[in-house]
Amino acid sequence: MDLQHICREIGTLAQEAGQFIREQRSQITNDDIELKGKASLVTYVDKEAEKMIVARLRELLPEAGFITEEGTATESGEEYKWVIDPLDGTTNFIHGIFPHSVSIALTKDNNPIAGVVYEIGQNELFSAWKGGGAYLNDQPIAVSKSATHEDVLLATGFPYYNFDKLESYLKVLEFFMIETRGMRRMGSAAVDLAYVACGRFDGFFEHALHAWDVAAGVLLVQEAGGKVTDFKGGDKYLFGKELISANANYFPAFFAKVNEHLE
Ligand code: IPD
Ligand code: CA
Ligand code: CA
Repeated sequence: MDLQHICREIGTLAQEAGQFIREQRSQITNDDIELKGKASLVTYVDKEAEKMIVARLRELLPEAGFITEEGTATESGEEYKWVIDPLDGTTNFIHGIFPHSVSIALTKDNNPIAGVVYEIGQNELFSAWKGGGAYLNDQPIAVSKSATHEDVLLATGFPYYNFDKLESYLKVLEFFMIETRGMRRMGSAAVDLAYVACGRFDGFFEHALHAWDVAAGVLLVQEAGGKVTDFKGGDKYLFGKELISANANYFPAFFAKVNEHLE
């Protein structure tokens, strides 16, 4: 399989879906906002973008199955699966702020082998394929080198529907707030990971995530030389709903703190 070719195709597709999302921004009204769950918003824009992406991916790789946030496609697929978030950062999108993004990954036996994250606000296309490196608008990218708390800028996603770990979470936040250059809550996990991959952020962690939020971003970080695990240090970061990621130098110190409180 020519993964570089697949990566180029899904990059173009993510940009086209992104263009549709950009055009719809001024059209949406309060009547277009549906509630999927507590503080979990969706619009026709998410759904239409997903349909557009799925239709094209069916042509690109007919044997592949799908895991998609809005449930457009449910084919299971034997070996290959597309894992898609048509609009990551819907709340940002609805409120007219950036970042928000399109995230598409191809997995083989549940491991990402090609992935793109297209950030709509800055027109930035992040892409990676297994063994091929990671790129931002076709330029190679790498994770940062900072190794100590005092030198890092971190990202997270605040809990918004699952508050089981809130107390421990606040302890972790307190530590990083005091000891690091600061924490950001951008509102798109796919973009958080893309920013770790290109060295803008030194680390990112969040729990209660889904595979479609992170599948492409995980590969970006790995191919850019960074590390990704679950909160126990294992490899259940795609379907285990928790993920920690950082440049290779900072990962041990970062992991130790998150693991201490959240494991
Ligand atoms: C959300 C974003 C957000 C993260 C949430 C996700 P959505 O995805 O990635 O940053 O904190 O956990 O659900 O709903 O905008 O696709
Ligand atoms: Ca998402
Ligand atoms: Ca989404």
